[in-house]
Amino acid sequence: MSEFRVTAISKLHAEFSVPGDKSMSHRAAILGGLSNGTCTIRNFLPSEDCVNTLNAMKALGATYEVLDELPGYGPVNLRIHGQSMKLSAPAAPIDCGNAGTGMRLLAGLLAGQEFSTELFGDASLSSRPMGRVTVPLGQMGANIETLGEKPGCAPLLIHAAKLSPITYDMPVASAQVKSAVLLAGMFAEGTTTVIQPAETRDHTEQMLASFHVATRRDGNLISIDGGQVPQACDFTVPGDISSAAFWLVAAAALPGSYLLIKDVGLNPTRTAILKVLSRMGAHMSEIVHSSNGEPIGNIKIQGAPLTGTTILIDEVPNLIDEIPVIAVAAALAQGRTIIRNAKELRVKETDRITTVVNGLRAMGAEVEEFEDGMEITGGKPLHGATIESCGDHRIAMAFAIAGLFAEGETIIQNTDCVNTSYPGFAHHLDAILHERPDAADFSLPTVSKA
Ligand code: S3P
Repeated sequence: MSEFRVTAISKLHAEFSVPGDKSMSHRAAILGGLSNGTCTIRNFLPSEDCVNTLNAMKALGATYEVLDELPGYGPVNLRIHGQSMKLSAPAAPIDCGNAGTGMRLLAGLLAGQEFSTELFGDASLSSRPMGRVTVPLGQMGANIETLGEKPGCAPLLIHAAKLSPITYDMPVASAQVKSAVLLAGMFAEGTTTVIQPAETRDHTEQMLASFHVATRRDGNLISIDGGQVPQACDFTVPGDISSAAFWLVAAAALPGSYLLIKDVGLNPTRTAILKVLSRMGAHMSEIVHSSNGEPIGNIKIQGAPLTGTTILIDEVPNLIDEIPVIAVAAALAQGRTIIRNAKELRVKETDRITTVVNGLRAMGAEVEEFEDGMEITGGKPLHGATIESCGDHRIAMAFAIAGLFAEGETIIQNTDCVNTSYPGFAHHLDAILHERPDAADFSLPTVSKA
């Protein structure tokens, strides 16, 4: 099992891009596979999570060819041959690996088919709540059994069913739930509506628009009419701002640093991390330079002494995946940072409130734990420690960043999990640790397969 060994850095001067966005890559695989022709997807995230979704679509009849790959990981540029909404029964149960997004979106896609499918995942995914999708899908007429040892958990046995449209008032602000219901709505006759209690990432709506599937938005209501066939299109996935967040925090917390992250997704439903780091004192600017429905641009950041902040209730869904590394920034900032209303963290790949609190305490930070978050009193010097990732990619990467500011060595154990969302993280970490002068060229080398 691999590990990261990290020591403090005194300088960070770099310009690079991070791999493709995980949320968008899942959706590109699904909509490409449903489309009425051949789609070229560029900068797909070749991570375990997204490759599992791609292979799920293949098992359902949508073949793909790899044009370029990241050696040892998976496709970066590929062509998917869509099935015009007519999927075929898979020969075997479908493995969703570690991916909550993959399993929940696929559950929506498969709820209204003429065949049964079983979806399963790893131990972490098998302990995450699936009732949040099986309940609304059940209201649409789906027949889904949760076969897990833990009630309401995967494996999911999704029987053939005919769906009816519903209006669903979501009890949790979850883009995965919204997307599962909208995908199911594509297979129901009539209009399916989701009401979200707070704004969540809107990549499903944006990508449906790229594939010429209309959705309507009225405040927090999002509606879709069933029966629309996604029109094949080409799509370039921007870099993942949630992956960029690790380096943004490293640069923000190191006075004198300079970092330019290039070609990253700047969808406003994902950029609260930038507001938070600015509020904490980092000097930053972002410029949108292009858009394919999704705004894409560069983020420039220069470090400065940071001060604590309060994460606003409305910001939480927008930066939920960044909270582990924001907590690291908070430990490095002067004063208190308050993160509340974030109970959802307890049902991510790990209970991220507990894993973050334990890790920060092990490194000497002052943290109080709450049921729905934590309060961090920053400014105490961090010291190296051995941190177990618990198989959670964002915990492994967040504590690698903490290690860049700690006295002595920090060892992060069980780090293969970073391949879930950020293949190449170790390469970037190594370049930053060794202050490589070729920092402008951190790009991960792809190999042509065409
Ligand atoms: C995601 C939505 C978020 C996020 C996850 C990806 C998505 O989860 O945490 O990493 O792609 O829709 P929730 O929608 O459950 O909050």
